[in-house]
Amino acid sequence: MKFSVITLFPEIIEAGFSKGIVGQAQGSQLIQVECINPRSFTQDVHKTVDDRPFGGGDGMIMLAEPLAKSIESIQGPAHVIYLSPQGAPLTDRKAKELSQKTHLILICGRYGGIDQRLINSQVDEEISIGDYVLSGGELAASVLMDAVSRKIPGVLGNLTSSELDSFSGQRLEEPSFTRPREYLGQSVPEILLSGNHAKIQEWRKNLKDLVTLKKRPDLFGEKGPDLHHLKKFWSDLSESEKKSLGLQKFPQENA
Ligand SMILES: C[S@@+](CC[C@H](N)C(=O)[O-])C[C@H]1O[C@@H](n2cnc3c(N)ncnc32)[C@H](O)[C@@H]1O
Repeated sequence: MKFSVITLFPEIIEAGFSKGIVGQAQGSQLIQVECINPRSFTQDVHKTVDDRPFGGGDGMIMLAEPLAKSIESIQGPAHVIYLSPQGAPLTDRKAKELSQKTHLILICGRYGGIDQRLINSQVDEEISIGDYVLSGGELAASVLMDAVSRKIPGVLGNLTSSELDSFSGQRLEEPSFTRPREYLGQSVPEILLSGNHAKIQEWRKNLKDLVTLKKRPDLFGEKGPDLHHLKKFWSDLSESEKKSLGLQKFPQENA
C-alpha cells in the first residue's frame, strides 16, 4: 500500500509515522508513505497556495492549481481522498475497504478548505474523521493511514489481531487483563487462568456481546444478541468477576 499525502505540513505526517506498528510497517516495506507539498507547484516568488474566497467570508481557500499539479506529479493510478469534515465517516468497514486498494492519495486541506472545483474534478471521495472541525487535514490523514494500515495483512504481525479488535463483527472487544492477578481488590476472572482455550474463547464471545450491549448497542444492527442467553451468562458470573469486568448490572438495566 502506498500513501501519497498532499500537505503543506509534511512534518506532521512524518512525526506520526516514524514510530510504532505503522513505523515498523514502513521499515518492512508493507506500506510506503510519501509527502507532496503543493508549494513546490506554485509559480510566484511567494509560493502562494491560497487566496481570499470569492463573495467574501472568513479564511483563505487553497488554490486548485497547486493541488491539481501535486496530484498529477504522483505516478500511477490511485484512489484520491480529500479529508474533510463534510465527508463520509471513517469507520472500521471503510478502513478495511480502503486497505484493499494499492495506492491512496490523501489531500489535506488547511485554512477555510479547498476550492470546490478541485474536489469536483479530482477527488474520488471525501472522508471525515468525526463531526468536528480540525485546523487541517494532516491529523485526519494520519488517523486514516493508521486505521487502514492495521487492516493490511502482515502489518500487525498477526492478521487475526485486527479481526478481534473492537468493531469487527459489529462488536466491541471484551475487557483485557494483565499482571498482577489482583489489583485494587479486583481479581482477574478465574477462567482466564484456566488454560482452557475453547472455554476462554466462548467466554470472550459472550463478553463481547455484553460489553457492546452496555456501551454501543447501536453496533448490533438489526440482529442483536440472544438476550435470554446473555442474561444467563451474566447471572452465572461471580460477584467478583462482575466487579472486575465492570458489569455489576446487566447492561440493559443500566439504561
Ligand atoms: C478548518 S478546516 C475547513 C472547514 C471548512 N471551512 C468547513 O466548514 O467545512 C481545514 C481542513 O481541515 C481538514 N478537516 C477539518 N476537520 C476535519 C474532519 N473532521 N475530518 C477530516 N478532515 C478535516 C480538511 O482537510 C479541511 O480542509
